[in-house]
Amino acid sequence: MAELRKKVTVQVPATSANCGPGFDCLGLACTLYNTFTYELVPEAEGVQVRTEGQGNTSLPQGRNNLAAQSFYTLWEKLQQPATGLKIACRIQVPVSRGLGSSSTAIVAGLTAANALAGDPLSKEELVTEAARIEGHPDNVAPAILGGLTVNVMEKGKVESLKLALAKPLKLVVLVPALPLPTSKARAALPEMVPHKDAVYNVSRAALLVGSLMSGDYHFLTTALEDRLHQPYRLPLIPGAEEALAAARQAGAYNGIISGAGSTLLAYVPADGDAVKIGEAMRKPFAKRHMDTALHFLEIDPEGAKVIG
Ligand code: HSE
Repeated sequence: MAELRKKVTVQVPATSANCGPGFDCLGLACTLYNTFTYELVPEAEGVQVRTEGQGNTSLPQGRNNLAAQSFYTLWEKLQQPATGLKIACRIQVPVSRGLGSSSTAIVAGLTAANALAGDPLSKEELVTEAARIEGHPDNVAPAILGGLTVNVMEKGKVESLKLALAKPLKLVVLVPALPLPTSKARAALPEMVPHKDAVYNVSRAALLVGSLMSGDYHFLTTALEDRLHQPYRLPLIPGAEEALAAARQAGAYNGIISGAGSTLLAYVPADGDAVKIGEAMRKPFAKRHMDTALHFLEIDPEGAKVIG
């Protein structure tokens, strides 16, 4: 039997959950990545996490780092021998901004543990494990599977349908210098919503999926609207409402709050002027003296992968 390896490098994409009307259900993977190298070391050496890039000052450096916690969750479940761990993280996905940075750590840990244990779990099983840790599936599923995923939690398991888009689409991603913890953005949501708002969202979520699959992208302007979370979260991101209107005026199909925010993401035609749209979205924040970073991305088709 081949000996199992002791070191693995995993690349995991950023993700944009909700996609407008698909609260806690829809998510897509984007072409921006975190990379994690896991090395098994003697147990006595404990856990050492080294981080380069966006999160190097704020992320825990030991066993309580999410990339380590998720690794051990699966490693122990798979009844692998006790081990120490060295993790080197290269972080490009902004932290606490609604681009699934914590999902990248969860997915990296699970993917690495699975790979170093000889790949006993399928990607589908990893999605359920990851959603258990994260609490909702709409970031972890596209982070593992890539593409756009429709995700339903059913009796403790996640059913994830990965969809291929009919035509290319550009994503203009505006990241304000405003960390917004998911817990705070979820606390802003009401317990109950009016029945008419539920209908508003169900119809748009269905139209959104149909539009992306058929290539009838002219529906996206209507289909990306939402009443379940955005109206409650927009006030937490000063300038966001104006920026989304500016994106539409500059030629985007529409724009949304990515995940729980504070990032805004515009869905742009393949021949649209992404730079013009990004600059238009930036202005309402500049007016409020808020720095922003722009990323011009596409949908990542593959999801998490072992690259070394
Ligand atoms: N669906 C989740 C939310 C995504 O909007 O709260 C958080 O990353």
